[in-house]
Parts: sequence; C-alpha cells; structure tokens
Amino acid sequence: MLAGKNITVGVTGGIAVFKVAQLVSSLTATGAAVRVMMTKSAREFVTPLTFQTLSGRQVYTDLFERPAGGSVQHIDLASGSDLIILAPATANIIGKIAGGIADDLISTVVMAASCPVIICPAMNVNMYNNRIVQRNLAILGDQGYHFVEPGLGRLACGTEGRGRLAELELIMDKIEAIFANEGDLQGRSVMVTAGPTVEPVDPVRYLTNRSSGKMGYAVADAAARRGARVVLISGPVELRPPAGVEVVPVQTAAEMHAAVLDNFSAVDVVIMSAAVADYRPRNTAAQKIKKHGETMTIELEKNPDILAELGRIKKQQLLIGFAAETEDLERNAQKKVAAKNLEMLVANDVTLPGAGFGTDTNIAKLIFPDGRIVSLPKMDKLALAHRILDEVLVLLK
Ligand code: C5P
Repeated sequence: MLAGKNITVGVTGGIAVFKVAQLVSSLTATGAAVRVMMTKSAREFVTPLTFQTLSGRQVYTDLFERPAGGSVQHIDLASGSDLIILAPATANIIGKIAGGIADDLISTVVMAASCPVIICPAMNVNMYNNRIVQRNLAILGDQGYHFVEPGLGRLACGTEGRGRLAELELIMDKIEAIFANEGDLQGRSVMVTAGPTVEPVDPVRYLTNRSSGKMGYAVADAAARRGARVVLISGPVELRPPAGVEVVPVQTAAEMHAAVLDNFSAVDVVIMSAAVADYRPRNTAAQKIKKHGETMTIELEKNPDILAELGRIKKQQLLIGFAAETEDLERNAQKKVAAKNLEMLVANDVTLPGAGFGTDTNIAKLIFPDGRIVSLPKMDKLALAHRILDEVLVLLK
C-alpha cells in the first residue's frame, strides 16, 4: 500500500530518535520513497549517516543548502511529499508549527506542505502535560494535523508517565490508514469471520486448529478503514480488535453459526476467513476424562458448514470464502466455489513458506465462479485484505 509513496520523516531532537531509525527502516522496506530531515538537536543523538543508510537516500539538514539544479530544497520536499511524519516531535517543533514559526528546515517544510502531516510527540511527562503544549496540540488538531499519541511508561529521564514515543506498530497503522482507500465502502456492511473455533472435549480439553485470526482481522480492519460497517465474528485469538469494528466473540462452530445467522440479513458482504472445525466431539464430558487403557476414542459429529448454508439462503449478499489447501489447490478451490455458491474464494496453499496460519504474509489465488483465477504474489495480510476488498467493490457494482 505504501510502495511508491513519497514519505518524508522529520526527526527532531529527543532521545526517541533511535526508535525512529527502525521506523525509517520499516517504511523503506514497504517500498516507499523515504526522505529524512533532521534538526540540529536530532543530530546530537544520531548522525545523519544512520538515516542515510537506512533510507538509502540523502538526509536533509540545512534550510539553506541548494540542491543541484538550483531548485529550492524546502519547497521541493514539501511539494514532493505524499505524507510527512514528525517523529519524535518535540514540544519545540509542535510549538513552532502551532505558532506559525518557520525558522529551520523541518518547520519550513511543514509550513509549505499541503499533504497530511502525522505528529508523534515524545517528551518528558511534565512537558507533555504542560498546558501550553496541550494548547498547541489542540490548535494543530483543529487544523487537521494527525497525531499518534505518546505511550505510558518509563521515560528516558527516569520518570514514569505519558511521553514515550508511540509504539512503531501504531505509527505504521496510522500511516497505512492515511493511504487506505478511504470511504470507498461507505454505506456498506461487511461481516467477517476470523480465527479458529474450539470444540470442547471435557472441561479442560478441546479440539482446535492453527488459525491465528490475522487474515480475518486484517480484512475487518481494512474494511472499516474504507468506511464499511464491520461486524467481526471471532474465535479465540491473541489479537487487538481493529478500531471501529464490532467484535462478537465466539468459541465453538455452533456459536459462530448462530452469530453469523443473527447478522446475515443486515449485511451486504460476508467474508468467511475463519477456520471452522468441520467436526466436534459428539459428547462433551461434564467432568475431566480420566486416563485408562492404552488407546482412547473420541467420537466426532459434523459441524454445520456455515458458508454452504449461507450459499443456499443468500439474497443480495456477496459470499467470499477462504480455503486452506495442502494439495491440488486450484481444482479443490473451484469445486468449493460451485458447491458453496460463492462469488469469490481466496485459496492458499498453507504448505508454502510465507502463506497460511500464523504468518503476517500470505500467498493467495482468487478464484471466481466463471473460472477466472488471479494469482497474487506473497504479500502482507493487510495488503491482501485490501486486494480482496478491491474485488468486493467491483462485485458490488
Ligand atoms: O470446505 P472448507 O472447510 O475448505 O471451506 C472453507 C470455507 O468454508 C471457509 O471460508 C470457512 O470459513 C467456511 N467453513 C464454514 N463452516 C464450516 C467449515 C468451513 O463456514 N463448518
């Protein structure tokens, strides 16, 4: 999503500069063109060489430096940026921007820019709580500047409180949110299922699978960022719920079945990425099963195939399924599209490195009922989520 974007990072003088080295490295890895500007104080902490090496580009430090060709550096940087991030942003740079002061490269570039600006404050807790700093932040908020709030915790000065530079993950989330296809799913409702189901054997044991929920959570996140109303029916996972998404937690396939049917009539799109258990123990023992004998048998009975049922009862809804395969991917996937009456199936070979359960990336093929197959390269699950939603948008039309 960030590939090809021109992202300019303004680094000001706080101890959190060292964390921004990682941010610049991560941003560069997305394929974005990352330019770094540093203030004089930032250079007291880290030299430009660090950022030059990580971004693979010249680092800008001087307002009065003339690039070859005679153009004006701060105007070039301002007009050539799709996004500016200030991290760490000191009380000083926040005050200068809020006060309309442009006396160095970063403050001048920000003043000349018309692209979105994300400010990531980092400073001592008393400075952050200072009413003048808070007033400046409020002024900038009213003017449409974006923020990633500092975190709580131990600060470099030895005190505790709010002031640590936000986690890099949150900063990356914010950057992606700026570029996501804002609003193209406005007015649509999407139901997503995610994660495994757990099928109890007795009060302490259960049958489950390796699904992490990452793919479904990425789809829910992406759909919400694109303006859809999103309900996420989630099996037990270790993931932070995406912002702005209604989460319905479930345990068993039977609970997922009930929750999906509850919501089905009110949605336009269903994206079933959950790894629903096909079978459950016929009987759940009321007490912990004691060990005896060398072997033991658990009798299983079939769970409802939720997606197949939706395929039979659907009206206007688009149905998107997922299929994790370990062999003969395309043929199996095509059979499923027909058998479950789907508009699209996202099939992946879970044996490939970088695909399937637990990873942050996936390698998928999109299979359509007319026989069309789109083979996608390995990509981040959030990027794949957006790719799936791009197809959903076409199908909705
Ligand atoms: O048939 P298979 O399990 O491979 O199909 C996978 C698709 O069907 C997934 O989208 C999954 O969420 C859904 N499914 C379901 N109910 C089941 C099993 C799978 O909805 N009991």
